[in-house]
Amino acid sequence: MNPEIIITEDGSHSLYNAVLDETYHSRHGALAESRHVFIQNGLAQSLSADRAIQVLEVGFGTGLNALLTWQYAREARQRVEYVGIERFPLSEELWRRLNYGTALNAEREFAALHEISWNEPHELETCFHFLKLNIGVEDFEASDTLYDVVYYDAFAPEKQPEMWTSETLSVVVRSLRPGGILVTYCAKGQFRRNLRGLGLEVESLPGPPGKRAMTRARKPDEKARKRAMSKS
Ligand SMILES: C[S@@+](CC[C@H](N)C(=O)[O-])C[C@H]1O[C@@H](n2cnc3c(N)ncnc32)[C@H](O)[C@@H]1O
Repeated sequence: MNPEIIITEDGSHSLYNAVLDETYHSRHGALAESRHVFIQNGLAQSLSADRAIQVLEVGFGTGLNALLTWQYAREARQRVEYVGIERFPLSEELWRRLNYGTALNAEREFAALHEISWNEPHELETCFHFLKLNIGVEDFEASDTLYDVVYYDAFAPEKQPEMWTSETLSVVVRSLRPGGILVTYCAKGQFRRNLRGLGLEVESLPGPPGKRAMTRARKPDEKARKRAMSKS
């Protein structure tokens, strides 16, 4: 069953999946949520002047986070290499009706994210390299690429508990660079304990409109810590 389009409180679209009884974004504002959780508290905390930063998104979905990242990369003059994982790609009929391209004055970019082929890398702009993988996170394997930021944007633990277990999270955590961060809108206690159990330092941050809190977790960077200690 195709999800249906809904209008969230900031005027941006989201999707409602009737089988799960779950939306793709917060009803208080899809755009506001993506900007707050993934861009301001994720990407913007990870900039690097001398190299491309690696971003992994679990649950590419509508492409909103990827589009905002592309725009941010251009404005901040930051090279980004982005991998988005999606088990259930949207139909063309559906993504073409979403209002993100018009709302962000980026219709060409939004279409490009969806039109390009799956499972092969694309240079969409010098500052934005993009690969979307049509796989489930359970099929994702750690590789040589280590990520600076993971956008963990799965459906909520009550709806898709298997996405938030230590087992599922472990491969993603293994793929984080030392010092790298994972950000998500989810603030559930069990999820945070799972991250701590996997060795991450977990922070609670104020959430987007309508939500008290969100989560940011960092992989400790032992080498950087030792370097700092030896200097002091
Ligand atoms: C909360 S939505 C967020 C989507 C997206 N980040 C956006 O802004 O539209 C969760 C997404 O995870 C996808 N998903 C569901 N099961 C998955 C799995 N096992 N592996 C990867 N993605 C999955 C869903 O199809 C959906 O697109």
